[in-house]
Amino acid sequence: MSLVAPSLPSWVDNLRSKVTDNLKQNKDLISYALATHDTATPHSDAPVPRVRYVVHRGFVNERRKDGDGSNNAVKDHSDKDLISDKLVITTDARSPKARQLASTPTVEIAWWLAATQHQFRFLGRAYVLASPSFSSATNTKPFPFPSEHLAPYGDFSWEDERIRQFRKMSPELRASFCRPVPGTTVAAWGGKLEDLPVTLPEGVDKAENDEQKKQLEQALENFALVVIDCTEVDLVDLGSQPNTRTRWTFDTASNEWKEEELVP
Ligand SMILES: Cc1cc2nc3c(=O)[nH]c(=O)nc-3n(C[C@H](O)[C@H](O)[C@H](O)COP(=O)(O)O)c2cc1C
Repeated sequence: MSLVAPSLPSWVDNLRSKVTDNLKQNKDLISYALATHDTATPHSDAPVPRVRYVVHRGFVNERRKDGDGSNNAVKDHSDKDLISDKLVITTDARSPKARQLASTPTVEIAWWLAATQHQFRFLGRAYVLASPSFSSATNTKPFPFPSEHLAPYGDFSWEDERIRQFRKMSPELRASFCRPVPGTTVAAWGGKLEDLPVTLPEGVDKAENDEQKKQLEQALENFALVVIDCTEVDLVDLGSQPNTRTRWTFDTASNEWKEEELVP
């Protein structure tokens, strides 16, 4: 089958080149703040905002090479990257943020790329892609996931994409997914954090024994992608004089992105 990469809005290339420039100078600039709504809080009858830092894991299917655990195609017939304009982060499917997204998918991201003095803000809807076998007492609502809409091409394997991202994690991060439920008390669990595994290998074929194999299966079951479908992107350039501000808005009626220059 001959694959054709989707045409992407201009903010995608803009962001990719700024991320590359910033990471060359400071690897820590890979994190941004993700805000969600929390409707299950004792603090208020109305939804309250929750915000935390997460690591940018690229766009869907943004890859450097084949042989990384995914059988999805990397390039189309004319050698263009087969990525979509959807941002990816990774998390634990049992975490409070995953529960919040199942109830209210609307999110905002703020990203300060300090090395080049750019702020990006993304407004959109975030969808949790859990393991096909994921089930949890803490997950009161199922995770909606419009797989075709979010994919870079038809027949895209989301499970390959999830496994690829898991394999890319550091051994320490992989092990963090077989902890007890994030955000619950250590007292209620009753165990000792120091008894939990510190590292886990990429796949069960590399497990050292049956116990590690079980831990890895557990970690893979809890590991989830969060895929963000942006509808508005706001870029402020504080590195230029005068400062500039650009807004891209997705118009659902025409199915097109509109770009405007704004007063900063
Ligand atoms: C720099 C940095 C990067 C982080 N990256 C992630 C991440 O990619 N995914 C994630 O679930 N948590 C990440 N965390 C932890 C979250 O900020 C948060 O503490 C945790 O996920 C619990 O959030 P929740 O209770 O809202 O679900 C990161 C924290 C920091 C400080």
